[in-house]
Amino acid sequence: MNDTVNVTENHDSLNHAESRPDPRHFNLTARVLHWSMALMILAMLFVGIGMVTSLGLRPTLISIHQPLGIAILLLVIVRLINRLRHGTPPLPADLPTVQVFAAKASHWLLYTLMFAMPLVGWSMLSAGGYPVTMFSGFVLPAIAPHNPTIYAVLRSAHTWLALLLFATVLMHLAAALFHAWVRRDDVFASMARGDLGSKASVDTNDYDNSINR
Ligand code: HEM
Repeated sequence: MNDTVNVTENHDSLNHAESRPDPRHFNLTARVLHWSMALMILAMLFVGIGMVTSLGLRPTLISIHQPLGIAILLLVIVRLINRLRHGTPPLPADLPTVQVFAAKASHWLLYTLMFAMPLVGWSMLSAGGYPVTMFSGFVLPAIAPHNPTIYAVLRSAHTWLALLLFATVLMHLAAALFHAWVRRDDVFASMARGDLGSKASVDTNDYDNSINR
């Protein structure tokens, strides 16, 4: 009796899984941008700290920091467009509301900071009257008026936003590991690999999980 019920449930949920419009994984563009930008942002945080703590390394680090920061700005535009066009895999249906809120809020905070950090850095140098050099001979135009007060405000904002970004990245990392090692749900895998891998290995666990989606 119970067996019959389970088979029916699995069959229904299989059909549901096949017809479900939501992807179970982020698309390739999203995954490539996620992992490459994670490395770039971590590098930027440490290069930034190096710039203000080592006079000897400062010129070299500045020549890395500025183009890498502008590259992050360009990539986050592509990333946001891709996210708005293709959406995201659903979070597990049994995730507590507070964790759903924390996940969504922290993702939008990360997007905001990925836009804000390069824009504040670029405007800060513009306000200070410094050139923003991408590579030899290619200097970006100023995007803020030359004004010492604006420079001072933006200089301080760049530091505080960097601290906020660092803290948010650490919380994001902790949450990802919580999903992978404690909850053992599909959230980490949705960013770690594509849909092909999961289709080939579909089993009863996948059916059971899909009941909750
Ligand atoms: C995601 C992008 C960025 C991140 C994560 C980042 C991070 C940092 C960090 C952690 C510092 C050290 C802050 C401190 O100790 O006060 C710093 C300093 C600095 N950043 Fe950025 N930054 C980014 C983008 C940019 C961009 C695009 C520019 C310029 C075009 C820029 C220009 C600077 C400058 C000039 C300093 C040093 C200022 C000084 O020594 O007075 N940053 N950044």
